[in-house]
Amino acid sequence: MIEVSDLTVRFGGVIPLDGMSVTFERGTCGLIGPNGAGKTTFFNVLSGFVKPVSGQITAFGEDLLKMAHYRRARWGVRRTFQTEQAIEELSVYEKVGLIHEQSKVTGSSRREDVLGAIDFVKLDIDPNAKVRTLGAAQRRLVEVARAVVGKPRLVLLDEPAAGLPEEETELLSEVIRAIPEHMGALVILVDHDMSLVSSCCEVTAVLDFGRLIASGPTDEVLRDERVMRAYLGTEEVMA
Ligand SMILES: Nc1ncnc2c1ncn2[C@@H]1O[C@H](COP(=O)(O)OP(=O)(O)O)[C@@H](O)[C@H]1O
Ligand SMILES: [Mg+2]
Repeated sequence: MIEVSDLTVRFGGVIPLDGMSVTFERGTCGLIGPNGAGKTTFFNVLSGFVKPVSGQITAFGEDLLKMAHYRRARWGVRRTFQTEQAIEELSVYEKVGLIHEQSKVTGSSRREDVLGAIDFVKLDIDPNAKVRTLGAAQRRLVEVARAVVGKPRLVLLDEPAAGLPEEETELLSEVIRAIPEHMGALVILVDHDMSLVSSCCEVTAVLDFGRLIASGPTDEVLRDERVMRAYLGTEEVMA
């Protein structure tokens, strides 16, 4: 369980998170909101890239903000990025295994772990294939494999389906839904594809201007008037 209380982030005059409080209990939880609402900034705080000016985050009973950012990966924070971290010349195996560069896992258990993650996302390709030879959907699955390798406790997915056609989003959705049970991790899914969020998440939280404006069962949240209003005037349309 992740408990966030009164989290505020400032970049000069910009306040991307403005007293955000929310709880993510278990399974796959949705986090939605218009562009600029602060979703990626929230992930940056969880993974340690951004330091908040105030607030608290308790992750499975531990004070996450007290943990040095370089220790969070070992602790179990994993994420994907909105813009793919392309390292074209690496093989799929090498790229998925990068996280282990900072861990003590070596030898055959490391190999098993990396191949297990590649297998888990149903990437039906040679692990020695270079990343540059992959198509868009396969690259996305590589990103997800990187986010479940090792012993993940908290998996942050930042718009994993952006730009993917429906059929491939469907496959991605099956993988995402399997993460909590098979990997034992809590997943927070950020995406603008409301059918993906609905199919993966029992509960969803909504950010607008850095504040939580709704949270609860996904179907109820998507019908909430404050949520619909938050999306008005943006180019995104609620599905
Ligand atoms: N490093 C930064 N410096 C200044 N402003 C930033 C920075 N990162 C994000 N912002 C601003 O913070 C706000 C929230 O951005 P972001 O968290 O990326 O939103 P979302 O992911 O919900 O679209 C936006 O107004 C954005 O321009
Ligand atoms: Mg974002």
